[in-house]
Amino acid sequence: MKFVRTKDGSFTAFSKKYKEHYHSLSGAIEEAFEKHVNALGIEDGMQILDICFGLGYNSIIATKKHKKLQIVGLENDIEIIKAIKNLTVPKGIESEFTTFRDLAEKLEITDTNNNTIKLIMGDALLSLNQLPKEYFDRVFFDPFSPKKQPEMWSKEIFRKVYNVMKQGAKLSTYSCAKSIRQNMTDAGFKVMDGPAVGRKSPSTIGLKTHNP
Ligand SMILES: C[S@@+](CC[C@H](N)C(=O)[O-])C[C@H]1O[C@@H](n2cnc3c(N)ncnc32)[C@H](O)[C@@H]1O
Repeated sequence: MKFVRTKDGSFTAFSKKYKEHYHSLSGAIEEAFEKHVNALGIEDGMQILDICFGLGYNSIIATKKHKKLQIVGLENDIEIIKAIKNLTVPKGIESEFTTFRDLAEKLEITDTNNNTIKLIMGDALLSLNQLPKEYFDRVFFDPFSPKKQPEMWSKEIFRKVYNVMKQGAKLSTYSCAKSIRQNMTDAGFKVMDGPAVGRKSPSTIGLKTHNP
């Protein structure tokens, strides 16, 4: 696993398989905060689904200053979860990260603010079938790019995600590609611009307005 320092000082990984970095090189932690956590708005006690968990930055930033979050992470590569153990993180999130470092051994951890993170290892396309319907308040959707992983951005996967979200729940993703937004719309989402961070184009927020 190769690690690269991004412009905000936090590290990202580089995937040899997909030949892509895990985060924007303009700032990995900044991306997690701006495009996902801040863009969606998190409240104590929420149920959060972190699809394509990776180094878990979206989840760990969500737990900062929040209590009793119940986070489910979907990931298919145990090596990236093992890499969390010795990951160098900015001082600002070092304390939150302490409990988090045990994820590879335990797959479920609870931090000092009673936030729970539970990992489901395996193909997210299949893991989504095991999750309860109309359950999650917020979803971080963070696969590799549509060009590298088209199967992760299909109408089918967005329909599955839509089904496990509560009415009024929101999803964040970095892509604003027209075809991806169309797949989200076809799955039922109301699609809106999210913040532009580290580039000119916006990210995307999907709102579940009604049950199918
Ligand atoms: C762009 S990275 C995500 C970065 C991550 N959110 C973070 O904060 O580090 C994509 C992640 O999705 C995982 N992944 C790719 N395909 C998957 C699949 N079919 N099911 C579950 N996880 C998958 C990869 O192993 C990788 O960790």
